[in-house]
Amino acid sequence: MSNETAVTNASQPAADTVRALSLEEKASLTSGADAWHLQGIEHAGIEGFMITDGPHGLRKALNDTSASINESAPATCFPPAAGLSSSWNPDLVRDVGKAMGEECIQEKVAVILGPGVNIKRNPLGGRCFEFWSEDPYLAGHEAAGIVEGVQSQGVGTSLKHFAANNQETDRLRVDALVSPRALREIYLPAFEYIVKTADPWTLMCAYNKINGVYASENRWLLTEVLRGEWGYDGMVMSDWGADHNRVAALNAGLNLQMPPDGTDAKVVAGVQGGALNEEQLDRMAAGVVELNAKTAPAMHRDGYHYDIAEHDDVARRAATESVVLLKNEGGLLPVSKSAHIAVIGEFARTPRYQGGGSSHITPNRLSSFLEAAALKGIDGTQLTFAPGFTLDDAPQDPALTRKAVEAATGSDIVLLFLGLPADAESEGFDRESIDLPAKQLELLDAVAAANANVAVVLSNGSVVSIAPWRDRAQAIVEGWLLGQAGGTGLADVLFGDADASGRLAQSIPLRIEDDPSMINWPGEEGHVEYGEGVYVGYRYYDSFGKEVAYPFGYGLSYTTFDISDIAATQSSGNIKTNTASVSAKVINTGGRDGYATVQVYVAPPKSKVSRPVHELKGFKKVFLKAGESATVSFDLDERAFAYWSTRLNDWHVEAGDYRIEVATSSRDIAGAAQVTLPGDGKKLPLNEWSTFGEWRVDPIGGPVIDSFMHNASSQDALALDDPAMRIFLESLPVNSLSMLVGVGSDEIISTLMSGYRKRFEAAGEVE
Ligand code: BGC
Repeated sequence: MSNETAVTNASQPAADTVRALSLEEKASLTSGADAWHLQGIEHAGIEGFMITDGPHGLRKALNDTSASINESAPATCFPPAAGLSSSWNPDLVRDVGKAMGEECIQEKVAVILGPGVNIKRNPLGGRCFEFWSEDPYLAGHEAAGIVEGVQSQGVGTSLKHFAANNQETDRLRVDALVSPRALREIYLPAFEYIVKTADPWTLMCAYNKINGVYASENRWLLTEVLRGEWGYDGMVMSDWGADHNRVAALNAGLNLQMPPDGTDAKVVAGVQGGALNEEQLDRMAAGVVELNAKTAPAMHRDGYHYDIAEHDDVARRAATESVVLLKNEGGLLPVSKSAHIAVIGEFARTPRYQGGGSSHITPNRLSSFLEAAALKGIDGTQLTFAPGFTLDDAPQDPALTRKAVEAATGSDIVLLFLGLPADAESEGFDRESIDLPAKQLELLDAVAAANANVAVVLSNGSVVSIAPWRDRAQAIVEGWLLGQAGGTGLADVLFGDADASGRLAQSIPLRIEDDPSMINWPGEEGHVEYGEGVYVGYRYYDSFGKEVAYPFGYGLSYTTFDISDIAATQSSGNIKTNTASVSAKVINTGGRDGYATVQVYVAPPKSKVSRPVHELKGFKKVFLKAGESATVSFDLDERAFAYWSTRLNDWHVEAGDYRIEVATSSRDIAGAAQVTLPGDGKKLPLNEWSTFGEWRVDPIGGPVIDSFMHNASSQDALALDDPAMRIFLESLPVNSLSMLVGVGSDEIISTLMSGYRKRFEAAGEVE
């Protein structure tokens, strides 16, 4: 795409406002007024609204320095994406977004900085708790709800961190070396989907470089792809401190530097010296003016107050739907409300409900599991609590183990709360292991020896290792980080007031060493190679038959479901269409009401490129009463079948039979149907570097080469009947023919090329 791509479509009034400003004023608009405010220009009616974190609630800083992360105005702390992503419920996510938007109105925050849709490339990534999934389809379709919900209130979002910001190690300067195909299929689609369907008012560029160029200066990313290809017309801001070169960034398509580093004069000098075209500066500044205008009505709603209790309720629903039941032998859960229960583990009293860093929220309220159980009438008479361990690094205190064992002995059931202490994971560093603290596992051993009915309840932002100890627990509940109402949400699920309806948004490996990115993690000497390409998460585990502890999409319910009547048709009867519809019947076969999460994976035919065995292309969460059934249907668009062809520099659907799997996890396929697609017919023009094989299958090149073969002298006929010779030839670029025929090969090549060109033109194709 040319350098001339239009970079922003800010409205005419915004453009007119900017045109009337002085050069200095225009420059000033392209950096913040301070760490959390846009620049205002009073005489032009441009207000300097506040923008602040995000992403799972409002972190409105109490002062203007960005350093005081934990000092913020109280707000509802919704489940971080690690939890919320397990809900597989975009409508619920939209409700969370709407509530966050309402809090922004009260607090006069024009843009909340999120959601963060970077792919969980490796579970060690320090910000995995803030990100949605290892799968871009799921990440995009869930996180879009945040954007839609917040913006429905007239408040902006900032989709971040664009792009390939998948680790904390060296995050401010690491060069992410990612193939075009992995970028298009894995690292960009969540952004692309949200940009195209939910129109986030701002994006935030990442700190890192992508293939050699800082995201903040990456014109390919910010202008050619984002604006040119995806049609984005909002504005892009830098991550905090990601803009190192104002002129280069503005030229690339970055509207706003945050926080300001006091270099507006360089922008002015850039225009005066010719390094920055003033029209480009105008476009970038107009994006900021436009944002001010869009958010002004909400920012002027004085006296608005959101309902704290109502938002706590949204947080509770979100927490409840995010809990994932991994194991439930003998139906140990839900716990009977009349049982004698030992609750062990400090996390039951001191919840771990969010992660550290810029997303850290001061919660409005906070519910622990113990408090939530008491509200359900389950307290001291039937419940014994023992903290079991401390949350610091001190070695295990034998007295705590003893008390825990005492509590476990003779109880009907033990709810053992294990997890990662707050300092184990945060923005700013990657983890070194996925193991739970050793002292907690020691405690599990002791408790499991005293009581056979142990349900482990986990609190962790990113994956922890479960396989080594899972046999010692009859039930395992993955509680992720569940926000301020996490205690209540857990109690709802553990006592069976709600179904266990969360499903994994990421695979849980047996060992971290099994992760396909480990060989290139976290990189070295300033760069990290994304050598696993498109084989991230289940795409790798499922394609290469690697065992996992729990697969992507997995989660038990308290009831059971049956999926049948799977049917797929190529859409609309148009034989040229590469789209399909699929439907299936799902029935609640158990004795309780519950949620089924039906997942659709597309398995491509044998391809010219290496493709994962299947990829998620649809999902629906449906509530069914006991015995009830429903038909779920999905429309699969062309992209559901496409891969990114590096050669075509475009999406490509090959002709062939595609299997459409209807599943309850990436490893539990209920059944499949097949559609035969014609393919999109896109083909590369042939040239001297194309192989004989490529020539032969090409509709235009095939006849050319066939007629050449037919007319060739015996020396040139190249014994195509000989199978070994055929394989050899099929992979030989025609310009390497000299290997076989020596002198005269030039003539053959030019005969082929001119024959091809004639046919190409006759077919009306333009080269
Ligand atoms: C983080 C962003 C955050 C910003 C402002 C940066 O360090 O990467 O996610 O929005 O700070 O706090």
